[in-house]
Amino acid sequence: MASTQPMRFDPTLLPRSAAIVGGRLVVAGVDAEALADEFGTPVYVYDEAEMRARCREYRVGFPDGVSYASKAFLCGAMARLIAEEGLGLDVASGGELAIALAAGVDPSSITVHGNNKSDDELFAAMSAPAKAIVLDSTDELDRIERLVAAEAPVPSLLVRVNPGIDAHTHEYLATGATDSKFGFSLESGAALAAVEAIVQTNAARFAGLHAHIGSQIFRPEGFDAALARLAGLVRDIETRFGIDVDELCIGGGLGVRYTTGDDPPSIGQHAAAVRESFGDALGRAGVACRPRLTTEPGRSIVAPAGITLYRVGTIKTVPGIRTYVSVDGGISDNLRPALYGAQYEAFVTSRADADRDAVVTIAGKHCEQGDLLVRDARLPADLAVGELVATPCTGAYGHAMANNYNSIVRPAVVFVADGAARAVVRRETLADLVARDVVLGDSA
Ligand SMILES: Cc1ncc(COP(=O)(O)O)c(C=O)c1O
Repeated sequence: MASTQPMRFDPTLLPRSAAIVGGRLVVAGVDAEALADEFGTPVYVYDEAEMRARCREYRVGFPDGVSYASKAFLCGAMARLIAEEGLGLDVASGGELAIALAAGVDPSSITVHGNNKSDDELFAAMSAPAKAIVLDSTDELDRIERLVAAEAPVPSLLVRVNPGIDAHTHEYLATGATDSKFGFSLESGAALAAVEAIVQTNAARFAGLHAHIGSQIFRPEGFDAALARLAGLVRDIETRFGIDVDELCIGGGLGVRYTTGDDPPSIGQHAAAVRESFGDALGRAGVACRPRLTTEPGRSIVAPAGITLYRVGTIKTVPGIRTYVSVDGGISDNLRPALYGAQYEAFVTSRADADRDAVVTIAGKHCEQGDLLVRDARLPADLAVGELVATPCTGAYGHAMANNYNSIVRPAVVFVADGAARAVVRRETLADLVARDVVLGDSA
């Protein structure tokens, strides 16, 4: 079986406070085995310093404003960390908004997304009041007008523009192509018409434009193309309606290094390239105003900070085909491999510097053949049941997409900093599993 992964695990895939000490994985001074013993497995472990450093890199790179896309990973501790680092927060549902507000996040730093916001979600955003709602359809503007007529506060709106470009990423992660459920098409004139509708209503204020072209993007071309088209729209808004565009948010999307072969730009390189491209685009389009260039990253703030620890339960070789190493999690804690064919690396935490001289498939424990966490992973050939295996770079869209398939409990989330580990989301219990069951709810 072939694998593109190197024989030895590459420790540069680890977050900055993690190290291999005497062959063992240690995160911010805490041994991985100790984390597994204390919090159970699987467990999501986050290096707090890595997340904070990435927030700071973004603030330097985009001085006009950065919002963290909370869909990548949200809980109370994360919302507070983001606020402490001076970033805004982007939410994409009433649930994310409720968590942010419960964590004490200032509503005036919250931007509210969603392609099908309900009346309740819109009302919650308007009454918070959130910094802005990202308008995604004309139906939504109708709903906002009805809510304002019923005394809800007048919201500020960014218009979600679909620039109609190829972001060079997985089709499920591409959101800026013409065929997308998100936003108003620029090409068809729908985006300009949406701005006009906002300008004409008393039920909303026009705050600017928003575009998010996709996720896990390594190449600048998609951002360049989007910015060129958006600059043209800014000019058209100036000339048609005689108003400035205060803010242009270019969304998130910067890719991260899941495997040794991945080579994304750094946050600083990405920011410099986007800023330069934006300036050029405005100049070429002959735009008079200077919109604030803002961004909304999720993955590139949290993915590299997270490591998931699993315990090996069974090892089974199908002769001539492959060896399955089954662990105690799977698609319930990391849906990405099944959803997008996402790739990860893996290593044994107690001998992280050992040769990974076997190519195996790391499987989960769910009743789906597609429940495979790492296909063609490299691990030591003498791997034994009971060893602890880690998959780095699992901080984004892991816990956020976690589910209870097969009634498996969701793992704890643990933040580690300066030699101390704290659970920020506790591990689910069997009682949690039946809590919503009207018949069984009281029996646990
Ligand atoms: C509107 C919007 N903004 C920001 C993001 C964050 O993207 P990423 O995690 O790739 O940075 C997403 C992700 O889907 C999104 O839909």
